[in-house]
Amino acid sequence: MAEWVSLIETEALGPGDREVFDVGEHYVAVFNVDGTYYAVEDICTHDGGPLADGTLDGYAIECPRHGARFDIRDGRVLAPPAVRPVRHFDTRVQDGQVQLLIED
Ligand code: FES
Repeated sequence: MAEWVSLIETEALGPGDREVFDVGEHYVAVFNVDGTYYAVEDICTHDGGPLADGTLDGYAIECPRHGARFDIRDGRVLAPPAVRPVRHFDTRVQDGQVQLLIED
């Protein structure tokens, strides 16, 4: 079942900000890039590194452990050593809240 979950007020996660949320079974890294919110699971598919601790270059997040890169817009791999995409979550803004779509 799919469910929208409110995470944080939009004003609390401004452009350039990022934050990790514990949402049920998932740790989700949410990024604000120029006013648009993107969300991926905060677990690198190579060996579990915390992606939110990495460097963001445009839409590419680099894992701080071994340098794999993922596109935060869809989770696809941009650079090895990861070969599997990271899980991506849809986001929306509703009533001043950043919301995340959880599909389990
Ligand atoms: S754990 Fe992320 S690149 Fe190895």
